[in-house]
Amino acid sequence: MPGRNLTVNRATLRHRVGYALRHPQRVPRHLARATRDAWLRYRSPDHVSYYRAVMRSDTRANPEAAVGSRTHERWLALGALQFDYLAGHGLRPGHRMLEIGCGNLRAGWRFIRHLEPGHYYGVDISPDILHAAQDTIVRMDLQPRLPTLTPVRDLRLDFLPAGHFDVVHAHSVFSHSPLPVIEECLAHVGRVLAPGGWFDFTFNRTEGEEHQVLREDFYYRTETLLALAERHGLSARFMTDWEELPHGQSKIRVTHGQEAGPAGEAG
Ligand SMILES: C[S@@+](CC[C@H](N)C(=O)[O-])C[C@H]1O[C@@H](n2cnc3c(N)ncnc32)[C@H](O)[C@@H]1O
Repeated sequence: MPGRNLTVNRATLRHRVGYALRHPQRVPRHLARATRDAWLRYRSPDHVSYYRAVMRSDTRANPEAAVGSRTHERWLALGALQFDYLAGHGLRPGHRMLEIGCGNLRAGWRFIRHLEPGHYYGVDISPDILHAAQDTIVRMDLQPRLPTLTPVRDLRLDFLPAGHFDVVHAHSVFSHSPLPVIEECLAHVGRVLAPGGWFDFTFNRTEGEEHQVLREDFYYRTETLLALAERHGLSARFMTDWEELPHGQSKIRVTHGQEAGPAGEAG
């Protein structure tokens, strides 16, 4: 997306002070989040527990804002963006899809409507957002499509069948994940991916130093994530066509090792 600053390190004091001076109205909200971050970090034994608590707190306030959309119009538009991209890349009704970090089905309801009944499987670490996902199914009259929604403790995916999913999708999940969580997913996703299947995930991209803001937002270099996927026997490529869309994150596509072109090739 044009206008993205890809070299700034948001964790530095210099950046934070500059940002506060430029946007004084955002300081109270950031202070509230920093206070919550400290408290939840103190109470949570690991990142997943921490982020589950963040989602609980955010979902209680507003489920659509909890997945990152400030208005219902933005919620609809962000879901459409994800759906249109995958449909344009060949998502067919007969495909079986796993959505990791499905949230309250911002895009999921569109996938569910498109896929044959029983072909959508959503997982999330947050029971609270999965309850909101059930509300979305009711609101959109999607009960006959029989989607599955399952809470997970981790991303080992060991309760799912091998070679089952043609499309695996994780939007705005790794942007909230430290590297060991991403690695756990990449270490196990190949087992559930069908031959010829693909796994798309978005991430906050930096071309400078990798960094994080609180425990909520993580910024990675593309080559770090490509190398991580390849270390687990997968092929990975940066999706240049996604960059043209109005979204602040970047996208990587992962396939079984022998199936994709060279890493870094445009998709
Ligand atoms: C920003 S929301 C995006 C939700 C959905 N993908 C969308 O685009 O609307 C991130 C979601 O990922 C979930 N999540 C975060 N870390 C996760 C993990 N390690 N495993 C599964 N879900 C995770 C959160 O609970 C939350 O529902």
